Amino acid sequence: MNRTAIIAGAGGAVPPRIVTNHDLERRLDTTDDWIRTRTGIRQRHVVEPGMSTSDLAAEAGSRAMKQAGMTSADLVVVATTTPDRLCPATAPTVASRMGLVDTPAFDVSAVCSGFIYALQVATNAVMAGAAESVVVIGAESFTTILDPEDRSTVAIFGDGAGALALRAGDRAEDGAVLDFDTGSDGSLRDLITVRAGGAEQRATGRPAAPEDAYFRMEGQSVFAHAVRRMAETSRRTLATTGWGVEDVDWFVGHQANQRIIHAVADQLGIGAERAVSNIHRVGNTAAASIPLAISDSATAGRLRRGDRVLLSAFGGGATWGAATLVWPDLPAA
Ligand code: UT7
Repeated sequence: MNRTAIIAGAGGAVPPRIVTNHDLERRLDTTDDWIRTRTGIRQRHVVEPGMSTSDLAAEAGSRAMKQAGMTSADLVVVATTTPDRLCPATAPTVASRMGLVDTPAFDVSAVCSGFIYALQVATNAVMAGAAESVVVIGAESFTTILDPEDRSTVAIFGDGAGALALRAGDRAEDGAVLDFDTGSDGSLRDLITVRAGGAEQRATGRPAAPEDAYFRMEGQSVFAHAVRRMAETSRRTLATTGWGVEDVDWFVGHQANQRIIHAVADQLGIGAERAVSNIHRVGNTAAASIPLAISDSATAGRLRRGDRVLLSAFGGGATWGAATLVWPDLPAA
């Protein structure tokens, strides 16, 4: 048997509060037109105080488990850039909230590539025989780390979570997670960063300076790196799987910017109609973006049994990664 992870369920969650571009127009020096034409975003969901990453993660994870008919799991992996706390990890809280007792659970931190990293770790655990079932989740409360005055990030990021429930099976089955390519370049760490809150800037008991406390991104440079790396990592993964671009039914790129998704699809030779997109509705939800886009497409009936899917992301670190999988026949959620 060619053992791998099989997708048995998918789930998504977004907080109820919606912030539209018009809402932002009223308090920032920006316009709906700028945001729509530069990014494709029309609105984003935002957590209210009192709601956090684990709430969204547990909701998405529970939905995926329910669809899979799973009541237990051997492992929970949560990809997030915005954990509930610096210490401990968020995954044990999420596992508890999903009713999973004594289950190993840990976080993966690779910013917007986090879900692909987490899916690879989960798939490897299944392939190695260390787990029969895994819940892998991407979840963010990204708006909690943004500078409310920074129009270049407030306009882009949103909150949400997406999850896949995986079981052990054979590579030839529908739902099989097939191959991965991942990489990083730490010399680019300043392009996407929150400088304070870690070991480098020690806790002093006083708040950090705003330029260090808030998330910062050098958008233009990230844009160029993202297009190049997402195209390269996608090509390597397709070659490993033995698929040509014409074999790809759906390209699920990290929902960073509609222009990035189109540019990568264009470089790969994949038509825009095969590029999954929900960025207009949810913005850039970092590690949650790929599983949330998958879950939305599955719910909308766009992803169908046997469809060949290519995932690809670029994020802070810098990190990047891609994966190939075949969509399963899932029961109604
Ligand atoms: O998720 C992790 C990976 N992240 C990404 O992949 C994001 C990648 N980057 C991007 O998506 C784009 O670079 C942005 C959407 C962040 C910015 O778009 P851009 O077309 O690269 O704009 P820019 O940064 O070159 O800025 C052009 C102008 C600037 O004004 P000046 O200096 O030309 O006067 C910005 O200050 O647009 C200004 N600007 C805005 N104007 C209105 C930046 N944000 C806004 C805004 N509204 N929200």
